[in-house]
Amino acid sequence: MAVCMCQGVLPAHADPRGELSAGQLLRWMDAAACLAAEKHAGVSCVTASMDDIQFEEAARVGQIITIKAKVNRAFRTSMEVGIKVTVQDVFTKVEKTVSVAYATYVAKPVGSGKVELEPVKLLSAEDCLEHSLAIERRRIRLGYFQAFQNLMKRSNKEDTFEEEDAVSTELTHVQSIELVLPPHANHHGNTFGGQIMAWMETVAGISASRLCHSYPVLKSVNMFKFWGPSFVGDRLVFNAIVNNTFQNSVEVGVRVEAYDCEEWIKDQPRHINSAFLIFSAVNDKGELLPFPRVKPRTEDDMRRYHGAIARRRIRLTRKCMLSAKGGKPSELWERSNQVIYLCLTFQAYLSYSNVAALTHLAAKPGWEITRTLDDIKIWTHEEGDALSFKVEMQVKIPSHVAFSLLSDFTLRQQWDKHFLTCEVLQAVSEEEKIYYVTSPSTRGHESRDFVILVSQRQPCKPCEPYTVAVRSVTLSAVPPSPKFSRSEVLCAGFQIHSSTSSSCTVCYFNQVTSGVMPYLAANLAGSSKSIEDTALECIKFLEMKGSKC
Ligand code: COA
Ligand code: ADP
Repeated sequence: MAVCMCQGVLPAHADPRGELSAGQLLRWMDAAACLAAEKHAGVSCVTASMDDIQFEEAARVGQIITIKAKVNRAFRTSMEVGIKVTVQDVFTKVEKTVSVAYATYVAKPVGSGKVELEPVKLLSAEDCLEHSLAIERRRIRLGYFQAFQNLMKRSNKEDTFEEEDAVSTELTHVQSIELVLPPHANHHGNTFGGQIMAWMETVAGISASRLCHSYPVLKSVNMFKFWGPSFVGDRLVFNAIVNNTFQNSVEVGVRVEAYDCEEWIKDQPRHINSAFLIFSAVNDKGELLPFPRVKPRTEDDMRRYHGAIARRRIRLTRKCMLSAKGGKPSELWERSNQVIYLCLTFQAYLSYSNVAALTHLAAKPGWEITRTLDDIKIWTHEEGDALSFKVEMQVKIPSHVAFSLLSDFTLRQQWDKHFLTCEVLQAVSEEEKIYYVTSPSTRGHESRDFVILVSQRQPCKPCEPYTVAVRSVTLSAVPPSPKFSRSEVLCAGFQIHSSTSSSCTVCYFNQVTSGVMPYLAANLAGSSKSIEDTALECIKFLEMKGSKC
């Protein structure tokens, strides 16, 4: 169900620097994604939102832009569309990624209500992976405004601005108006979301240029949410102003309001969109130019100044967390630390990366069977330096019972001799808990301890597995102690697939760290049977406890 759009970058698409204007790119991205959504829905669709977008690479006049858009998952009336933009140079044929973005479209035939969507057909392993991750991204998306409000409460208290050399933002205020004409709208007269985003980018760029005395370059956009529709004949009024500056970047906010003729006379605007765009500026040598600090004057200025700081924190955290897969252990440690600092607000990002890492690991091609017993199979997976193992167990209890027993880590001592003690440090939510675990000393190895986040997820559909994902996090309240060697779990956990109404397949995954390596090596070499023994204990525990449920 993918659609592919190819565009040559012409001078008419370029900004004053000769690079593809971000507004034009947003217009193409929305058009391609909307067509993918409509191909799945079979009716016309409207843009509900576009998640934060980062632009990694600029495209120049003469280069070729390719946009691939595909529905990853249909929810009830909305669907997530994944959009990948690449640029190719016609001479060198070198292709680079410009951006990967996710947008949500709602099936909405004109004149009728919303339409319930059919599920997406999953044809490849990648389709399955994106389908699983789409539900995690939806949690983040729908929780965004709450996360922002939470952070605003903190940011008002903590952050102060420096008066010295700060400049007023008054000069950066830009107002512009557009009349929506038929080419700006679909065949039902509904204004294209991408067209509105393009107009917003133009107005925001003018606002940013007033502070940097150069041509600003759009680096990223905070989530675009379309609060209500606009139509051919509407007057769209755009108001933009710089909210805050950071060392080499500036945040410009834009608010769009629509009026039809009657609303225009009565001065009754409809709020269509508010977006926050981040620009940087470079000189002729390509060096980043600094922006002056700004001075909030009114109460609104002050609120927006702090709003920009909160959004920046969310953006940076998101960037760290979403790029965490495959990171080095020490980086993961720091990243999780940053997230725990912003605890409840950013829990969604940490959980996303926890569940996403396990889902990615489970979906990797190339798992090889290394040992088989009656009800147990042991698999290994090698990729570069990374080694992972999977233990597949057939268990005669229903999957939901196995899930509830395996997601409570305080029960694990009952079957896993590698768990000496286990206590809940923080019950962050029903689905997320942070545990402190100690492990006994074994021959040649001192006692180890772990601080882990356990994220548990029920399937949205019967064909999907239950998931219990585990990774290490840092809590400043639990520093390493001399009594234990602090160890790390990079990516581990369970996926539980239902086999029949009274049996299931439990798969345990573990991406091997140096602490686990000797244990796995001994098992693979046959000198230890501790993986099988633990798996047998696990099955015994589940079937014994499960029979009482
Ligand atoms: N991001 C992603 N999805 C969102 C969302 C957001 N910020 N806000 C709502 N949704 C989803 C909901 O989760 C729901 O999905 P589901 O049915 O699959 O669970 C769906 O949108 C409808 O949400 P609901 O709360 O019932 O609807 P609503 O009455 O608020 O309408 C829109 C949502 C998007 C249809 C409505 O705000 C709208 O018409 N916006 C303008 C769309 C448009 O015209 N865009 C083009 C540019 S003007
Ligand atoms: P908020 O004020 O909470 O940020 P709004 O939706 O009112 O949310 O506005 C979004 C952004 O648009 C603001 O942060 C600001 O940058 C810009 N903006 C809104 N109203 C105006 C205005 N009257 N003049 C200039 N810029 C505005």
